[in-house]
Amino acid sequence: MRAITIEEQGGPEVMRLTDVADPAPGPGEVVVDIEARGVNFIDVYQRSGVYSMPTPFTPGVEAAGTVSAVGAGVDDVRVGSRVAWAMVPGAYAERVAVRADRTVPVPDGVATEQAAAVLLQGLTAHYLTHTTYPAQPGDTVVVHAAAGGTGLLLVQLAKLRGAEVIATVSTAAKEELAREAGADHVIRYDAEGLDLAAAIRGISADGVAAVYDGVGAATFDAGLASLRPRGTLALFGQSSGPVPPVDPQRLNSAGSVYLTRPSLAHYIADRGELLDRASDLLGLVATGALQVRVGGRYPLADAARAHTDLEGRRTTGKLLLA
Ligand SMILES: NC(=O)c1ccc[n+]([C@@H]2O[C@H](COP(=O)([O-])OP(=O)(O)OC[C@H]3O[C@@H](n4cnc5c(N)ncnc54)[C@H](OP(=O)(O)O)[C@@H]3O)[C@@H](O)[C@H]2O)c1
Repeated sequence: MRAITIEEQGGPEVMRLTDVADPAPGPGEVVVDIEARGVNFIDVYQRSGVYSMPTPFTPGVEAAGTVSAVGAGVDDVRVGSRVAWAMVPGAYAERVAVRADRTVPVPDGVATEQAAAVLLQGLTAHYLTHTTYPAQPGDTVVVHAAAGGTGLLLVQLAKLRGAEVIATVSTAAKEELAREAGADHVIRYDAEGLDLAAAIRGISADGVAAVYDGVGAATFDAGLASLRPRGTLALFGQSSGPVPPVDPQRLNSAGSVYLTRPSLAHYIADRGELLDRASDLLGLVATGALQVRVGGRYPLADAARAHTDLEGRRTTGKLLLA
């Protein structure tokens, strides 16, 4: 079969399509014929060296497809079942062996490609809005990079929970998408000379209940300055670069606020929690309550182009290798 292989971390060009041995299922594993793989910002960090990885490796941590073989000891997943997963390595391939207990069933009413498009970013938006800081009616919350894959889902889930949403985006086209997703207010945070914290306080004078920040370096200070007393800054990513070390005293001055740096892996580590979150999420997709926007489809061989577009801020919604 064919898979993307990275021999040495670096720019998008280090991703090469190679012929590799077909996987066989080990005990507790299933082999899945992949229909679509999700492209996520974590793939960029792992490819570029922001996160160190043992080499060689096949990137990609999210996909969906049909089970073609099951290993010993697997009794709840069958050949022919449609499954999806997030935070399991090796997805930029035609087939992969994956631990059965890390897969979730794709329910009727959800296309396999939709499951690949929503699982990782949707589970992320779910834990952030339901568990890290549970958004509720009466709250105003900020979602940065709101037209991105995670951002569009965060806006929708925060709205479904009854919060007022302030979205930030960098272009007029992205503003349109954030509004379509339900954002009540949109700030163009790329505007020349903009004081982002002042713009947020212009909308929410007492400060916001939570800031969901996947952008990092460029937005961190403004987020901290926008919180209401005892508000929460959920710093879940760093698409603009890492945030420098923070003096805890700043959290006091900002109003006894909470700062967390969460990871999806810690919110789906338990199989019961993974299945509960996934069934809630995919149920919303099946009913149409949650819209999944696929912003780009690329052949597996064009993974480098997908990364270049994602890093270049040229994309909206979800990117798939399909
Ligand atoms: N911790 C977790 O559990 C978890 C899970 C999933 C994702 N994440 C994080 O969530 C963030 C979003 O991931 P995603 O896959 O959904 O990507 P994405 O939001 O679709 O794409 C990244 C967006 O970040 C914004 N951005 C701002 N400054 C940027 C810069 N200097 N370079 C590139 N982009 C910049 C851009 O939107 P604008 O043009 O509108 O600024 C860009 O479209 C990432 O930081 C990712 O690591 C974390």
